[in-house]
Amino acid sequence: MLDSVKNWLKKILQYEALAETANVREIINAVRNSGQPYCPDEEGDLLFSLIRKHGYKNCLEVGFYTGSSALYMCDAVAIHSGHVTSICIDGDDAVAPGMKMLRDAGYANTHDLIQENSNQALPRKFLSNEKFDFIFIDGWKTFDHLAFEIYLANQILKQGGAIAFDDSQMVSVRKAIKLLQQYYGFEEIDYPEHNQSLRLRIFQILTCRSWQRPYRAFIKTLATEAQPPFGELTFHRPL
Ligand SMILES: C[S@@+](CC[C@H](N)C(=O)[O-])C[C@H]1O[C@@H](n2cnc3c(N)ncnc32)[C@H](O)[C@@H]1O
Repeated sequence: MLDSVKNWLKKILQYEALAETANVREIINAVRNSGQPYCPDEEGDLLFSLIRKHGYKNCLEVGFYTGSSALYMCDAVAIHSGHVTSICIDGDDAVAPGMKMLRDAGYANTHDLIQENSNQALPRKFLSNEKFDFIFIDGWKTFDHLAFEIYLANQILKQGGAIAFDDSQMVSVRKAIKLLQQYYGFEEIDYPEHNQSLRLRIFQILTCRSWQRPYRAFIKTLATEAQPPFGELTFHRPL
């Protein structure tokens, strides 16, 4: 009885994915290896929709592995000749299937992989003054590491750009997000604008057994110089 109620609920709450990402899902499903982390359809659609709706071109992610989130991002930037850079600490064997998937999908020239710890790669991006429209954070998730990443991500993200986080139900990720909101003035996106319906939200709450969203995204509303820690010399605020 309980199982049939669960199945019925799953059926009526099932996510209706974006038609524009059907090709991406097909490619991922064709190479999918059980036990490996692939971006869920609804999360991939959020990345895709954010990039497409805002016309973002230069995108960055931390954490490539299977390449599924990179594929959503490459597909989203393709219509305006954009570019995606992934940073990932994994060795050649681990990233080979994902890199092949991107090559086969036609994105060899619009995607770069930096095989390095983000604590080395992000400072170089900062020092070289490269700027990005969109950043997806899905790497190492201790608070200290995330705090270092988001300090740099904030510096290299353009005003009006967006940053998205996987695993945002984790305490460390939530603390890092608080920094973004309270120190740097980032504002959370309007999820229904990106196919993240109330029905999906109910499904997530029931399946994750948590009120916390499993992934979240934020817009950089203030230029870095106008943010309190950089604009106010007396800035001090408890977290
Ligand atoms: C969950 S997987 C990424 C999945 C990918 N975003 C997707 O959806 O297809 C996280 C990856 O981040 C890598 N990683 C962990 N810590 C890292 C770090 N400090 N710098 C770069 N990559 C890291 C892990 O080795 C792993 O391959």
